[in-house]
Amino acid sequence: MSSSRKGVVILGIYVADLAFRAGRLPRMGETLLGSGFALGPGGKGSNQAVAAARAGTAIPVTFITKIGRDAFADIGLATWKSDGITTDYVVQMESEPTGAAFIFVSTETGDNAIIVNGGAAGTITIEDVEDAATAIRSAAVFMTQFEQPIDAARRGLEIARQAGVTTILNPAPAASADDGLYGLCDYVTPNESEASTITGLPVDTLEQARAAGDDLLRRGAGVALITLGERGALYHSGRESILVPAFPVETVVETTGAGDAFNGGFAAALAEGMKPLEAARFACAAAALSVGKAGTAPSMPRRAEIDRLMKAHP
Ligand code: RIB
Repeated sequence: MSSSRKGVVILGIYVADLAFRAGRLPRMGETLLGSGFALGPGGKGSNQAVAAARAGTAIPVTFITKIGRDAFADIGLATWKSDGITTDYVVQMESEPTGAAFIFVSTETGDNAIIVNGGAAGTITIEDVEDAATAIRSAAVFMTQFEQPIDAARRGLEIARQAGVTTILNPAPAASADDGLYGLCDYVTPNESEASTITGLPVDTLEQARAAGDDLLRRGAGVALITLGERGALYHSGRESILVPAFPVETVVETTGAGDAFNGGFAAALAEGMKPLEAARFACAAAALSVGKAGTAPSMPRRAEIDRLMKAHP
């Protein structure tokens, strides 16, 4: 990694999260009384940018996206401002609204189910990404996901790879992509269900996760880093396959955004120069802290909390 390259650049979507808490999802045609509601900033790319900005000390974080000109957009702009995220490549469109996500949070388990519509961010093009090429080339780490058009993700990864920038693909939500895309990635970071959908293999046990990891390596990924919920994360490369254990969580309030906390934390740690396995441990700590709080972006932990948790569990 060249020392002249700095910080994390993230391409992805921002949407407003509308989170409803209830005991269960309604059946078709049924109206159910919920027990809580929250409106807040979301979208995997934006959540990861917030996670990276809070986890990283003194590393710049730049977010590339498209939003509308509306009240949902204002929530995003205020969030990025307060977390010091560079928004030079956030395009405000007149013609499209900011996207939104319906999030069901189970009051029983804290687990979630999501419907997301990217709105303006769903129109991100290859040209939009090329407009941000200077920022991508100057980053230490570039990260993207599958919520915006995949062609845009691919272009970002190509620009980063050509410039020698470390690349992370969080393939969420799972989508089919040709193997050439994985060959552009130093790290591919699915959760169990995404790893299973992408590879067509079951991912219930650690051994199955290793087999899915092998499949991702065959597709060209440098390292498969598969998050395994309360078990932690599997760091699987051609040379080593190590389970990075999860940190203990006292009370699970909401699991939405835990993957984003992991990815943002991992990217920030790599950009700071941590070794990949240490960065994965740092990412697990960030994820554990995020599930103890409600919301997605609002649940992203700050560096001091992550350091405290890591010190308590050396
Ligand atoms: O990963 C959680 C995010 O996925 C939510 O914030 C929601 O907006 C969806 O994009």
